[in-house]
Amino acid sequence: MANKRACVVVLGDVGRSPRMQYHALSLAKEEYDVDIVGYSGSTPYSDVLFSSRISFHFMKQPPMFSHILPKFISYFLKVIWQTCFLAWILLWIPKPNFYLVQNPPSIPTLPICWLIARIRRAQLTIDWHNYGYTIMGLAIGPNHILTRISYHIEALFGRFADLHFCVTKAMSQDLQHNWGVRAITLYDRPAEIFQPVSLSEKHELFLKLGKDYHEFSSSRPDDTLLTERFADGQVRLREDRPGLLISSTSWTEDEDFSILLDALDEYELNRSVNSSDYPPLMCVITGKGPLKSYYSNIIQAKQWQHVEICTPWLEPEDYPKLIASADLGVCLHTSSSGFDLPMKVVDMFGCGLPVCAVGYNCLGELITDRENGMIFKTAGDLADQLLNWFHGFPRDNEENRQFYRRNLKVYQNLRWHEEWRKIALPYLSSTN
Ligand SMILES: *[C@@H]1O[C@H](CO)[C@@H](O)[C@H](O)[C@H]1NC(C)=O
Ligand SMILES: *[C@@H]1O[C@H](CO)[C@@H](O)[C@H](O)[C@H]1NC(C)=O
Repeated sequence: MANKRACVVVLGDVGRSPRMQYHALSLAKEEYDVDIVGYSGSTPYSDVLFSSRISFHFMKQPPMFSHILPKFISYFLKVIWQTCFLAWILLWIPKPNFYLVQNPPSIPTLPICWLIARIRRAQLTIDWHNYGYTIMGLAIGPNHILTRISYHIEALFGRFADLHFCVTKAMSQDLQHNWGVRAITLYDRPAEIFQPVSLSEKHELFLKLGKDYHEFSSSRPDDTLLTERFADGQVRLREDRPGLLISSTSWTEDEDFSILLDALDEYELNRSVNSSDYPPLMCVITGKGPLKSYYSNIIQAKQWQHVEICTPWLEPEDYPKLIASADLGVCLHTSSSGFDLPMKVVDMFGCGLPVCAVGYNCLGELITDRENGMIFKTAGDLADQLLNWFHGFPRDNEENRQFYRRNLKVYQNLRWHEEWRKIALPYLSSTN
């Protein structure tokens, strides 16, 4: 049989595109040679980076046209630039059996990949993460001429593809209903690295973090804020430890961070009155993005006694460990289209961590309220959930917290590659 080859295209930072990296890894595991085309930036997972079957082809970033030219013109120049580089790379790399393209962005990705796929007689598969035009609509307004052009291009070339995957049932139904596109729902699943960790791994992680962030250290060099090591070498969680809350964010407009801050305000107040009922909280927020310094200033101005916020920079391999060490996750993701699910909750569930998340229409495909997580609308709801969760922590009310963790066991057992093999592989391998 001829050798199997796939080309994965993402017109964005490959390192920040976990799902396309998972696709590439799974293809490589099934003996495909994979070319990944995209932008460099964040470091991809080391499994992807060092796989002998996966090659990277990075595109050159367009110059900052918008610094010197009006928005409209700079947008067109950027698209032309991307078109040239993308087409050049796609024509130059070996012919694949199929192109697997992330949408969004849709422009110029969909038209170019469609054209090249036809020229090279390969199949075109779109992985719908969301709609490009709704994201554009958030930035420049839903009725802007560019948003409308974008809508028509996405609808037209979206329909031309041979095969479609998408991230939720809601999205699959919407694609079918609006554009007559039949997409197979392939849920995000946690990768293997998102696992529970042992007590000694937690201890090592906090010792390491304590070197850069004094919040995690303790007056005794062998102890940390949350763990202690006894003379016999045994590591235990401290009885007087704070609750560890974790949230990861890309610090953008579409995540309203003030909800969490308001909820923490309320927690602070309640704890200051009834301090024996609740632990202090350590809230760790990871991620980088445009609004980080804006919120850092607000956080610094808070004079909390019982709540501390830390925004550490983490090595990629420490992020899963930190999630696995936390007591509760918070997710502020809302969806521009209402059709995608937050990957960070998938990762948290992989580690067995229950989550409080802002509700929106299709979130029920991932979180069942009061079974494996809690869904909130307002800061007041979130504050109530935090107070309820941490009431009596760590000793009392442990059954409640264990109930949620038990309910995640089934979810934890089904991993990305297994799901991908079952759902995606049969379709992809039939396109040869
Ligand atoms: C303190 O606890 C009491 C009884 O548990 C409750 O009625 C009261 O509302 C609490 N006050 C605050 C501010 O949390
Ligand atoms: C928190 O404090 C408010 C008043 O400050 C009170 O009404 C509320 O009942 C308290 N919540 C809990 C869970 O104690």
